[in-house]
Amino acid sequence: MLKRGIIVLVMIAIAIVAFACASGGSGKLDIKTAEDWADKYPDIIASYNENKEDSSVYSYLEVHPYLKILYAGYGFSKDYNSARSHYYAVEDILSTQRTKPGASCLACKTSDYLELINENGDKAYAMKFEDVATADMPTISCYDCHKNEPGVISITRTHLTTAIEASGEKFNEKNMVCGQCHVEYYLEPETKEVILPWKNGLNVTEMIAYYDNIGYSDWEHPDTGTKMLKAQHPEFETFDGSFHSEVGLSCVDCHMPEIESESGEKFRSHHWTSPLTTIEESCLRCHGSSYTADKLIVKVEAIQKGADDRTEEVGQILATLVEKLKTEKDSGRLDVKVLDEARNYHRQAQFYWDFVFVENSSGFHDPKETHKNLDTAEELANKALNLLK
Ligand code: HEC
Ligand code: HEC
Ligand code: HEC
Ligand code: HEC
Repeated sequence: MLKRGIIVLVMIAIAIVAFACASGGSGKLDIKTAEDWADKYPDIIASYNENKEDSSVYSYLEVHPYLKILYAGYGFSKDYNSARSHYYAVEDILSTQRTKPGASCLACKTSDYLELINENGDKAYAMKFEDVATADMPTISCYDCHKNEPGVISITRTHLTTAIEASGEKFNEKNMVCGQCHVEYYLEPETKEVILPWKNGLNVTEMIAYYDNIGYSDWEHPDTGTKMLKAQHPEFETFDGSFHSEVGLSCVDCHMPEIESESGEKFRSHHWTSPLTTIEESCLRCHGSSYTADKLIVKVEAIQKGADDRTEEVGQILATLVEKLKTEKDSGRLDVKVLDEARNYHRQAQFYWDFVFVENSSGFHDPKETHKNLDTAEELANKALNLLK
């Protein structure tokens, strides 16, 4: 009786394993991309295909030569291009000259990354980038935000859900869909897992406290010996707390407005670009009584120019600091304690500045916070310079 029971159990077990294998081992995700939805959602796919048109790109290093001083010793001083549209995400990560620490670098470029994790678990993060990345990986597509249910928001990146839990805060899901990638992050040095430094909060001061607490740095500046931090595209954290976020707006309201197709059907634009290209739907529905389109564009450009000029100004001060710190360090006449204090100011100042420099709205998402961060960067840089007098 017992023996027959065991045989039955073994047969059931074999059946389960056989079934699992037939459906693809641990189960393939069956990722559908734009092509698979072309017939069902022609308007959305047409707008999605417009992302291809935003192909222009330039070298930050050529436009802002002082960056080579600020990022010396790090990949960003060798190759650093401006961002462009989602269509180019895979192409651009494959072509950058910067070294890729692991397969984690695909986390925000392709849904194939999700398949990689599905197959390999946490081991996937540290797999060799060159072994897994290929040009035929699909770029950011439907699955990244909807899984296989177009229209339903799905957060597919566990680095984000983990960070939300750690922060203990609640966020608007429509910001989170973009916050999967448009955020500050670092790679855990051993495992190469993507981690968002949100445990203490989402502003720069709180992030620096987080990094200091775990003793993290991205690289050591060869000229000054400072243990540096590098910021990455913190669009969500910058937008969070701005006047537009306080009135309940999300990325989707401005960047994915409801527009009308030629046949008169309303749908959400899936062309992720400047909202000024859809200013009627993105902005004037609220600002139409006090602004014409042209006047609002002038206003936005003035905000951006103010932020860009100030970023440039503080960037130059940081470059001066690097050179001064190098001279003083090399002279050997500086007290070790003073040197360390100056380095700490340098580490913090550059992160406050970088947080603005790498944010892609040129200050628009939160003009007030942007200027505050730049002011703090300047103050800290001056504190260091005063120590070196
Ligand atoms: C970067 C994230 C993102 C990607 C990629 C994406 N969508 Fe969306 N999609 C959204 C958001 C956000 C909404 C609005 C959801 C809401 O308002 O609840 C939306 C809405 C929709 C809707 C609802 C109908 C409408 O017009 O409002 C459909 C259908 C849809 N998407 C299909 C697709 C298809 C098909 C793809 C792939 C070509 C795709 N989406 C790719 C974020 C995305
Ligand atoms: C899976 C990751 C991912 C998600 C989700 C995502 N983005 Fe992006 N986004 C990127 C990457 C990567 C780039 C830069 C691509 C490049 O330069 O090759 C980018 C670029 C952009 C750009 C163009 C930037 C420029 O300077 O030209 C806009 C606008 C944008 N994203 C908006 C959004 C919005 C709005 C959402 C949410 C609805 C969103 N993105 C969701 C990864 C993502
Ligand atoms: C109130 C409207 C508004 C909201 C909400 C908003 N943005 Fe923007 N965003 C803008 C404007 C305006 C620009 C500047 C566009 C330009 O320079 O032409 C911009 C620029 C950007 C860019 C650079 C685009 C480019 O072409 O250079 C990215 C990326 C971006 N936003 C992502 C986001 C994300 C992610 C969110 C949500 C966390 C968000 N935005 C929320 C209005 C908005
Ligand atoms: C849902 C309504 C809404 C939308 C959509 C919206 N805004 Fe606003 N905007 C506001 C509110 C509310 C304020 C805060 C007004 C205040 O406190 O003075 C504001 C403030 C501003 C300000 C600063 C104050 C001013 O009038 O100069 C600018 C600039 C601005 N918005 C530009 C834009 C742009 C550009 C877009 C589209 C990309 C946009 N807004 C989309 C509601 C909106």
